[in-house]
Amino acid sequence: MTKNIAIDGPAGAGKSTIARRIAKEMGFIYVDTGALYRAVGLFMLNQQIDTKEAEKVSSLLKDIKVEIKFINHEQRVFLNDADVSEDIRKPEASMAASDVSAIPSVRDFLFGLQKDIARKNNVIMDGRDIGTVVLPNADLKIFLTASPENRAQRRYDELIAKGFEVQYDTLLEEIRQRDYNDSHREIAPLKQAEDAILVDTTGNELEQSVQILMDVIKENLI
Ligand code: DC
Repeated sequence: MTKNIAIDGPAGAGKSTIARRIAKEMGFIYVDTGALYRAVGLFMLNQQIDTKEAEKVSSLLKDIKVEIKFINHEQRVFLNDADVSEDIRKPEASMAASDVSAIPSVRDFLFGLQKDIARKNNVIMDGRDIGTVVLPNADLKIFLTASPENRAQRRYDELIAKGFEVQYDTLLEEIRQRDYNDSHREIAPLKQAEDAILVDTTGNELEQSVQILMDVIKENLI
């Protein structure tokens, strides 16, 4: 039997950074499911498709192959055999991902891939619907959140460090927009699973949040 830990929460709450660290310490595989939606979003952007046009997006899914590979224990995402792990981090891919993730056929398309990885490996999987839809029987569910301002600031620092030119106010607006999109869509909206443990990282240094999550896991992973 494999162990599965689900971490859900809004954009920028620190899920990926924290989960990656913990996975490394525990010898689990870290799976960032947002990257899969980003890959689909990126494909649509490259094809100059309006990512809100559900029918058009659905009709193009047959032309897409999305794969996850673990290279030196790091997840890489492949879109039609090309490694797009960096491209999908472009700010415009964020909103495209949020748009396509509201389309049921896109969620179906990525569902099996996520299930399969969790079935075969000890995973820490992060996303929006992992504890509610993808892994409802996860061994442990955590809902990780922080204030929108705090999340925008972290995103800002992260993107500036990567050399992107961004404005804090634009990022805050985007975060608010994505929160709204992700939690108001009809299918698999972002919400805390009833049996998830809530962790709010507002105002924490990264190390504090990693420690809090490690403690939660130690206490609750059976
Ligand atoms: O985690 P992220 O910011 O990279 O995710 C990008 C978008 O993908 C996010 O706005 C919502 C969507 N997403 C989702 O709907 N379900 C998931 N399990 C993961 C991400």
